[in-house]
Amino acid sequence: MRIEDIMAWAEAKMRWSDESPLECGFRYFHGLRVADIARMLAESRSEEYDQQTLFLGAFLHDVGKAGYRGPDHGPRGAEMICREAMHMIAEKQREGICNAVANHYMRPRSSWLRGREVPELRYETLLVQDADILDHFGVVALWTAIRWSVQEGRNQLETIDRYYGDAAWLEEASQSLNFAESREELAKRIALQETIYDSWRREQAGIMGAKLVTGDE
Ligand SMILES: [Fe+2]
Ligand SMILES: [Fe+2]
Repeated sequence: MRIEDIMAWAEAKMRWSDESPLECGFRYFHGLRVADIARMLAESRSEEYDQQTLFLGAFLHDVGKAGYRGPDHGPRGAEMICREAMHMIAEKQREGICNAVANHYMRPRSSWLRGREVPELRYETLLVQDADILDHFGVVALWTAIRWSVQEGRNQLETIDRYYGDAAWLEEASQSLNFAESREELAKRIALQETIYDSWRREQAGIMGAKLVTGDE
């Protein structure tokens, strides 16, 4: 396994040729964050997993979005890895990494997949799926909300209205998670971001005094 070479290959695809308005080199840093979250989730559970498969499956899961926007970026990413990076990956990890990349949004519990055929998913893939959802919540959600709003011309109040308490989206995200540990982390992240949105809304309404609002207020 030539991990430095794979990192350099992925950096060229996901950091330097990524035009996302969300963050400079968004796919690259999102990949690293998802890899960290996936590892922490795996460590909080007792099932066996392969560390390298999990790291690279998570880190590379969105590599198919390099210079491309499409719903099939999972299989596209797996094809890119097959074509350009397979020689850098140890044989025993190849299938698992491609399984995670190709299927990272084929979430068995999502409403989108209900009634459709679910592909064969490895344990590492299920961890990557949950970590990918979790990296869209918490403080990172505020960052991306602000970045999108700048891009789309929303002011602060419009940003709060657009992103705060989107019940359908929160419900779908929670239901789509594979593990109880992920749902627990999601609940903490949502509570944190909603607390900040509440304080933000108070400021916008001219209410004096910063105040952290708890859920039962
Ligand atoms: Fe993706
Ligand atoms: Fe992602």
